Amino acid sequence: MSIAPSLASLLLICSLLFLSVSADSFYQNFYVTWGGERPQVLQNGDLLTLSLDNASGSGFESINEYLFARIDMQIKLVPGNSAGTVTSFFLSSQGQLHDEIDFEFLGNLSGDPYILHTNVFCQGQGNKEQQFYLWFDPTADFHNYTILWNPQVILFLVDGIPIREFKNLESNGIPYPKSQAMRVHSSLWNADDWATRGGLVKTDWSQAPFIASYKGFRASGCVWLSGNSNCNNDVDVNTWLWQQQLDYAGQGQMQWVQTNYMIYNYCTDFKRFPQGLPPECYLTGDA
Ligand SMILES: *[C@@H]1O[C@H](CO)[C@@H](O)[C@H](O)[C@H]1NC(C)=O
Ligand SMILES: *[C@@H]1O[C@H](CO)[C@@H](O)[C@H](O)[C@H]1NC(C)=O
Ligand SMILES: *[C@@H]1O[C@H](CO)[C@@H](O)[C@H](O)[C@H]1NC(C)=O
Repeated sequence: MSIAPSLASLLLICSLLFLSVSADSFYQNFYVTWGGERPQVLQNGDLLTLSLDNASGSGFESINEYLFARIDMQIKLVPGNSAGTVTSFFLSSQGQLHDEIDFEFLGNLSGDPYILHTNVFCQGQGNKEQQFYLWFDPTADFHNYTILWNPQVILFLVDGIPIREFKNLESNGIPYPKSQAMRVHSSLWNADDWATRGGLVKTDWSQAPFIASYKGFRASGCVWLSGNSNCNNDVDVNTWLWQQQLDYAGQGQMQWVQTNYMIYNYCTDFKRFPQGLPPECYLTGDA
């Protein structure tokens, strides 16, 4: 009798366990919110595809609600002519006076760049848009999009590079989302009345169905359960929870993105805010 096979199978089990914790399954973590059969969970729960056709788009949301989280998602956007479509990945609470942290990808004609649109809502108030082009083709492969939300700061990261920082400036009277638990949401829908060149370019339905793919979902969060936040406060386990504003290197990376790829910043839109820019713009030096 040899122990080799059982050792081998033990190692195999260990590596399978490791694989199964490396990303969180779409089966266990999400439910379909709309679109009937359009959302498809594939590859044992590792991959989820959304589709859009002339009858409907589709979407899903997390079962868990979080009061602070770091959420990672890998997304491959609608390829080819995606004009008129919007693909989203965001956190949102419920109700009218909701909080929300948004990534939205505005489709474009083949060969023309997508716009990555970001926004932060607090108590139903948004109007804090920043938009970017990406430094890669987001339809050719999966890329990592991360929302880090803790009591000090909200960070938007693309492939680990911070593109936007929204600091908690409550001490200066600026509202900050920190009391409403949020779910992770994603959707793909038709927004050809505004999405591409302000609505000039319409969705070409002959290209339907449009498909966006999601994988690599990972949530480290404080799960909100019956009015309590279940949080591991250990700084070694949940480093994201203690992240302060960006360090010097992070600021340098963000500066690189904002200098080269930012195409809209509400903090420089004097036309839109003739009475004066929102106060946080002056406090952060964004104005
Ligand atoms: C939607 O697309 C289907 C399949 O291409 C087509 O048969 C149908 O006529 C379309 N419906 C509308 C309202 O355009
Ligand atoms: C995204 O993150 C995963 C997991 O950390 C990593 O393996 C992968 O290389 C990343 N992809 C990109 C394009 O950075
Ligand atoms: C689409 O491409 C055009 C032309 O390059 C560009 O002006 C526009 O900002 C792009 N994105 C959207 C969403 O309109």
